[in-house]
Amino acid sequence: PRSIWLSRHGESQYNVEGKIGGDADLSVRGYAYAQALPELVAKSVGDAEITLWTSTMKRTIQTAHHLKYPKKQWKALDELDAGVCDGLTYEEIEEKYPVDFRARDDDKYNYRYHGGESYRDVVTRLEPIIMEMERGENIMVVTHQAVLRCIYAYFMNVPQDQSPWMEIPLHTVIKLTPRAYGTQEERFKADI
Ligand code: F6P
Repeated sequence: PRSIWLSRHGESQYNVEGKIGGDADLSVRGYAYAQALPELVAKSVGDAEITLWTSTMKRTIQTAHHLKYPKKQWKALDELDAGVCDGLTYEEIEEKYPVDFRARDDDKYNYRYHGGESYRDVVTRLEPIIMEMERGENIMVVTHQAVLRCIYAYFMNVPQDQSPWMEIPLHTVIKLTPRAYGTQEERFKADI
């Protein structure tokens, strides 16, 4: 059966600084992940034909750089837009927008950043992406934490409002294979 492969971008400079959003380059470790990816992916792809999708952000494009598959960039795969909080750390958000910080904690799925998005918004904009993924080709998606949580929940048949709590670590390729009895999952952690 066909499979899908999911990966977050490698660690970014913003990840190192604890800032959310932005369009930062990969960190040194992030680049090491990009370099390790071809070998990590080859083991589970074999000679299957796959298409690689990224967002339009530098960190996903840089992560996919060494993978020699046909590639496509989707704006709909860009990270959840944090609006006025883009570029801040969680501590700074708590300080500047304490009411919002608590509101997000109370209802993370529905909370929409000012001038930005909620997880619910991301689920809506991912609909065409998920429809394409359902068409049955082998696809690898290199994108962002919040976006991957929504895609992962969908394929694992987890209710969408639980997406914000899905565990999608850095530097790990997740292979999902839909089966009659449910989706089979394998995780491959890079040794970097
Ligand atoms: O910190 C990385 C990041 O991708 C941010 O850009 C994004 O806002 C965040 O993770 C999403 O995670 P959470 O919804 O838990 O804040």
